[in-house]
Amino acid sequence: MFNVSREFAPPFSLIAPFFFLGTIFYVAATLGLLFFDAQTTHLDISLVGWAHLFLLGFVMMIIFGAMAQLVPVVLEVGHFSVDFYYIIWPMLGLGTLGMVAGFWIAPGLLPYGGLLVLVSMLIFLSDTVLTLRKVERISLTVKTVAVTNLFLLLGIGVGFMMALGIGVGVGVDLARWLGAHIVLVLGGYVTLTIMGMSLILLPMFGLSHGFDERPIEKSFLLMSAGVALYLAATVVDLPMVRIAALSVMFAAQGLYLYQVWLIYKTRARKENDIWFRSMVFGYVSLALALLLGAVGLLAGSERFWLAAAWFLVMGFFTFLINGHLYKIVPFLVWFERYSPLVGKRKVPMLADMVPKKMADFQFAFSAAGVALAGLGLLAGSDAAFKGGAAFIATGALFLLTSVKWMMNFGKTESGNG
Ligand code: HEM
Repeated sequence: MFNVSREFAPPFSLIAPFFFLGTIFYVAATLGLLFFDAQTTHLDISLVGWAHLFLLGFVMMIIFGAMAQLVPVVLEVGHFSVDFYYIIWPMLGLGTLGMVAGFWIAPGLLPYGGLLVLVSMLIFLSDTVLTLRKVERISLTVKTVAVTNLFLLLGIGVGFMMALGIGVGVGVDLARWLGAHIVLVLGGYVTLTIMGMSLILLPMFGLSHGFDERPIEKSFLLMSAGVALYLAATVVDLPMVRIAALSVMFAAQGLYLYQVWLIYKTRARKENDIWFRSMVFGYVSLALALLLGAVGLLAGSERFWLAAAWFLVMGFFTFLINGHLYKIVPFLVWFERYSPLVGKRKVPMLADMVPKKMADFQFAFSAAGVALAGLGLLAGSDAAFKGGAAFIATGALFLLTSVKWMMNFGKTESGNG
């Protein structure tokens, strides 16, 4: 697994806070869902606050932690300076809290929180760019990392500009730039990064090989072109071109799903463990999000758009991330605590390091909750939405307990954790 030498591998103490704090933010954000109902619109400032609590505190925090581990694997060189990561998580965490407080309570705090988030991300981007400069072989993955980081930079730049508009009254047309911000960060960074990582992780954990990779190569190109076109259409203010750009992104995601199907068909490991079930739920959610989004685009319906965003974020992003925690955390713990003991004494298998019952509960509550609340959003039913949210929050508590359990595995026994 993770073909990294000890020299490249960052210490567990550096990555653990990203995963732990990310999970705490996940619990907080899912509890926050209980205060919303099915009538909320995307312009509601409390929803904007919640979106950042969830996306910055949970999604970005965990992606950054995973990147600390994966960048050396994908780029085949060590980090420029892995120590940067010790300051990224506290700044990102504090900045997120500041931004959320800015959206929810005191708009004046927004630029300060935004600045902390911006700087933490610039540090992340600097390490990635300086690491990229050491790479000798420019593969498609290397190009993808470069493109996604550029989109993130532009996305947070637009976000910060809007934050100045809200916090200190700088004249920014929010209605015009909001779409570009969302497309750059969610499409240009989160989705493209998940696509790039999944091309490495899905075959590795499912033991697939010999599949055609051309669909994902085309999908990367189409998705990047779609995001760039959307940004260009925002700069010159051409709404019809923005719709064309969205359609290109939808087509790219269709191709990506086809690629995932090809990987699935060639998998040698047939076990339906928590990781596999999370992947299935995640990809079904992505397919559903595309379908609902297409209807929303044709019908111009806010309800369909919101339901599409729901399944994209709570179904696709969340299940892909949480499913991988059950693989990555045990691996990191194993690498830290047991790899020095190999050959000297009996060491546990990775599968023994997952709390299966707790993981089953986490999956069942979260999946039922996402489906129920998604239906609630579509049907405009507050009861279904709130019931689903309560299920998701319960699932999140199981996730937190599982992550803690995995992180503490063998801590006292091996005496070096
Ligand atoms: C420096 C970092 C960031 C700043 C300063 C920032 C700021 C903002 C601002 C001011 C808004 C618009 C609020 C409005 O329309 O009234 C917004 C919307 C949004 N941002 Fe960010 N943002 C940042 C990073 C991110 C990141 C990294 C993500 C995703 C991973 C993200 C996702 C979103 C989403 C989804 C919305 C729309 C929410 C809605 O309409 O309900 N933002 N952001």
